[in-house]
Amino acid sequence: MAISVVILAAGKGTRMKSNTPKVLHEISGKPMLFHSIDVAKKISNDITIILNHQSELIIERIEEVYGDIKFHIQDVANFPGTGGALRGLELKNPKTLILNGDMPLLTKEALDVLLDADADIAMSVIELADSNGYGRVSIENGRVQKIIEEKDCTPDELAIKSVNAGIYALKSEILNNSIPKLDNNNAQKEYYLTDIIEMGMQDGLDIVAVYGKEETFKGVNSKIDLADAEVIHQRRIKKAFMAQGVTMRLPESIYIESSVELEGECIIENGVTLLGKTKIINSHIKTNSIIEDALINESSIGPMARIRPKSVIETSHIGNFVEVKKSTLKGIKAGHLSYLGDSQIDEGSNIGAGVITCNYDGKVKHQTIIGKNVFVGSDSQLIAPLKIEDDVLIAAGSTITKNVKKGSLAMTRVPQKNIADFFYKFFGSKK
Ligand code: UD1
Ligand code: MG
Repeated sequence: MAISVVILAAGKGTRMKSNTPKVLHEISGKPMLFHSIDVAKKISNDITIILNHQSELIIERIEEVYGDIKFHIQDVANFPGTGGALRGLELKNPKTLILNGDMPLLTKEALDVLLDADADIAMSVIELADSNGYGRVSIENGRVQKIIEEKDCTPDELAIKSVNAGIYALKSEILNNSIPKLDNNNAQKEYYLTDIIEMGMQDGLDIVAVYGKEETFKGVNSKIDLADAEVIHQRRIKKAFMAQGVTMRLPESIYIESSVELEGECIIENGVTLLGKTKIINSHIKTNSIIEDALINESSIGPMARIRPKSVIETSHIGNFVEVKKSTLKGIKAGHLSYLGDSQIDEGSNIGAGVITCNYDGKVKHQTIIGKNVFVGSDSQLIAPLKIEDDVLIAAGSTITKNVKKGSLAMTRVPQKNIADFFYKFFGSKK
């Protein structure tokens, strides 16, 4: 059956205590709302997001990534609340799935259970030891009676442990009929979507509660929830990679954003951070390295290396305290303490300890191009723009400002002078 998806995201998110809209806070490098959109896209291409607070900013961010999302601006002043959110909405398909923009841990599998339920309304319910903050679900003889918002609960109702996760799959005509009938006679003076349950029950509709896992339906309302949700999301990402054959040492200490790809046999050691559109193939990333928007193939990186955006590193060894930015390195070794920025270095070349590509003249960035089999001695500065051809030796401690031809030695050292017995003259003979 064709399904329309509605994602509620008009709330203010006051408890986040932030100028950033709640749904743009990130989990594993992706705004929470995008997690909801991604799961919705697996179910339908008719997706409407309900917005109000900071809607322009949110729409702009969404449209940078997604092309086919509809938006509905809620009239919060006149119709506040989750029921008000759906007012005036035209639902195209016979069935509607209602999601929240602040539930980044939802999975398609969990939603399929809800969508497959044979009922007029299927609602998600979780059992919680501490049901604080949620609407309580009153169930009698296995049938859902109503949802009571916490602020409207009697002491007995407050003790109910079955709570409304806030996700519903229902016939669209039920929404079309009941949304205009909602009132705001409640403690919060809001139009509650949850009231459609009691209305439906009175109309004799078939309403089922689908029990789900707390960790799937976890809502994020505060920075504490945000951090808790990210821990769960990170575990999922890492388990999926390990199942695929990636070795992880102390996985709890590793951070991997959801856009990262790992292929083949990779080893990721403790404390590694992988960000953005990083792709790693058959490589070993050692302790405490950080890699962002880079391609790493058949290489070893770190420990404690920093690989920055637009770097491509293949069949290379990058050692400790090496920073690489926007560089293409093929078949090279840079073992220790270097900065390689805006550079291109070819097969068989060795970058000594402390070598710096001086890529920035204070105004613009320049390229350093190094050919094959070049030996760059330790502590050399390569002042870009610079081209060093194949089979070149750069003497340690040199400051190279001019291009170097194939097969040459380049050396800019001040000649060494040894003065015999100077020590004794300086300190006196007693010393
Ligand atoms: C809602 C449910 C509650 C449930 C809880 C689960 C209602 C009345 N209550 O409560 O039973 O246990 O979710 O998390 O539905 N939103 C709008 N417009 C609004 C208000 C909210 O779009 O006017 C959106 C929010 O952005 C959010 C979602 O709806 O994505 C839930 O809003 P929230 O304020 O968290 O609802 P709760 O009061 O927690
Ligand atoms: Mg909430």
